[in-house]
Amino acid sequence: MSSFDPINESVLRRKLDEAQVACESLQVFSELDSTNAYLMRQTEAEGFQVCVAEAQTHGRGRRGKPWLAPMGSGLTFSCVQRLSSTQGRLAGFSLAVGITLAEKLTYLGLPRVALKWPNDLCVDGKKLAGLLIEVQPSVVGKSAVVTGIGLNYALSSEQSKEIDQPCVGVTQLGLGLSRSELLAELLIALAQAYEDYEERGFSSFYSRWSRWDLLQGREVNLILPKRILQGVAKGVDQSGCLRILVAGQLRTFSSGEVSVRVAQ
Ligand code: BTN
Repeated sequence: MSSFDPINESVLRRKLDEAQVACESLQVFSELDSTNAYLMRQTEAEGFQVCVAEAQTHGRGRRGKPWLAPMGSGLTFSCVQRLSSTQGRLAGFSLAVGITLAEKLTYLGLPRVALKWPNDLCVDGKKLAGLLIEVQPSVVGKSAVVTGIGLNYALSSEQSKEIDQPCVGVTQLGLGLSRSELLAELLIALAQAYEDYEERGFSSFYSRWSRWDLLQGREVNLILPKRILQGVAKGVDQSGCLRILVAGQLRTFSSGEVSVRVAQ
């Protein structure tokens, strides 16, 4: 395990300034309950805000699962900005964030990045990062949309064993950037993604999905609250719903957990 490389706030601020990201607030904590929970408590504020924690005591994952990331092993951070949220307009936002991260990590040199619908970032079937989007709806105006990201940076084999699924960190894949440099790059891309989504919704991301789609053409199980459906994944529709061919019929799903079926 490499030595702990703490987040350097001045590197972060300098890189965001250089990229002209208008960041209203940037807070780096050594420990916090959860960066998502923190920003969900601040949703009255305006503009792009960022919260980073070296360690979380109650890191939240999707479907109520905890997110475990030992100090220094990953990046755990969230950002928030207000977005128009009329008529299901936010449905594709989590896919848009996944696409944004996949594109940036690939640009930075990571090999074989893929997305497992709706937004798990994987390499060679191992989890590289997870996203948790939480929305504080507003009756008038725009909703506060919190994007939380847990990205594996340098995981020792002992740490990997404590996680309930195969996972991989960016240093194992040869990325040489410090945690602060990598975080700055991801935040710059995320600030742009919020802007693009506000302007054009999922339409500016839709055609970019297929490049990263890990499930395309594969036999999958879709785990729904009361049953499991089997079918073949056929990409996403224009609002980001998963399309699955089930018994000769093309159906779309806005939620559910997908697993790839292993050939018997
Ligand atoms: C998943 O289950 O795949 C989503 C994991 C999201 C974890 C991140 S870590 C930073 C942010 N704060 C949280 O409490 N959760 C998200």
